[in-house]
Amino acid sequence: MTLINRNYIYEAVNDSYCKACGKPREKIIGHSVSQIWGEEQFENIIKKHMDMCFQGNEVHYQEWFNFSDAKRRKFYDVAYYPFYNEKKEVTHTIVVTRDVTENKLLETQLLRSERLAGIGELAAGVAHEIRNPIAIIKSTSQYCQNKFQSYDKELKELMEIFVETSDKIDKTVRKLLEFAKPQQSRMRKGNIMEILKKVCSYIEGKCAEQNIETNYEIPETSLPVLFDEDKLNGAFLNLMLNAVEAMPNGGKLSVSAVNKKDEIEIKITDTGKGISPDNQRKIFNPFFTTKKTGTGLGLSLVHQVINIHHGKINVYSKIGVGTEIILIFPVYKK
Ligand SMILES: Nc1ncnc2c1ncn2[C@@H]1O[C@H](COP(=O)(O)OP(=O)(O)O)[C@@H](O)[C@H]1O
Ligand SMILES: [Mg+2]
Repeated sequence: MTLINRNYIYEAVNDSYCKACGKPREKIIGHSVSQIWGEEQFENIIKKHMDMCFQGNEVHYQEWFNFSDAKRRKFYDVAYYPFYNEKKEVTHTIVVTRDVTENKLLETQLLRSERLAGIGELAAGVAHEIRNPIAIIKSTSQYCQNKFQSYDKELKELMEIFVETSDKIDKTVRKLLEFAKPQQSRMRKGNIMEILKKVCSYIEGKCAEQNIETNYEIPETSLPVLFDEDKLNGAFLNLMLNAVEAMPNGGKLSVSAVNKKDEIEIKITDTGKGISPDNQRKIFNPFFTTKKTGTGLGLSLVHQVINIHHGKINVYSKIGVGTEIILIFPVYKK
């Protein structure tokens, strides 16, 4: 909670606001909102809402905020209440903020799951319908190719395009079906750190080739987790390959894991290109890719795998700085 005057200067703050900002009281009081939150966030988000409050309105909104000193973003529920003097003029705004990042992340994950499930069902339906006609086009083209062989070489070569293109479509459709089909899982209790280490060793060569420095902090032992080894392998590999692909000119890949009380936290951090906020909303969609030869299926599969394991995945990224993926797996309790 804080009190801000019409010049957007802090006049009073309570302890929890100081703590949320990560600054002592004397570094906030007397300073302007744009000094604390940055010119950009002040101009784009805060000012318009605060001005409405100075006109005598109670203002409520929710928004992501970045911090200057911490790299994490937080999602805040914000309320501005007008504060009047004896002449009934608004002299200040009383600001009440609540950190609702956890709720927001859960909600996002849930929405993503629902959307993926929807897309998956639709895709499976369409894919089935497409595969048979494609097979017919392909076999007919091959038949024509053989017929033309004897008297028209050019036509024969053109028919090859039909065959190749149907193969390409069939491959895409097959991938889609694989993604959409309900997957059998073979869950067992085990040491998740071993899987993680194994995947790190797979990509070591690729990292060396691309001038990527690696830093692994993975403990030997792991609290028990129920997992499907193949699927988890695939998910870790997809995430690490994305990190490596984001650093074509070298950089640093860090992988760390921590046994917490009820969960295991795994972080995969790169110093690569980063993902724009706009793209961050799309990266889990099947077929979303920014790469020339990408399939765009990696992260949607990762999301599926994390869901099977009742885990969570969060992405923090900044263009030009890098990307941090945080995975949380619940510890198995009998
Ligand atoms: N670590 C990362 N750094 C930068 N961009 C990333 C990273 N991971 C994923 N992305 C973005 O998300 C998109 C989708 O990723 P993914 O689903 O694995 O498909 P693909 O790797 O085939 O493009 C990528 O094309 C890329 O734009
Ligand atoms: Mg990928």
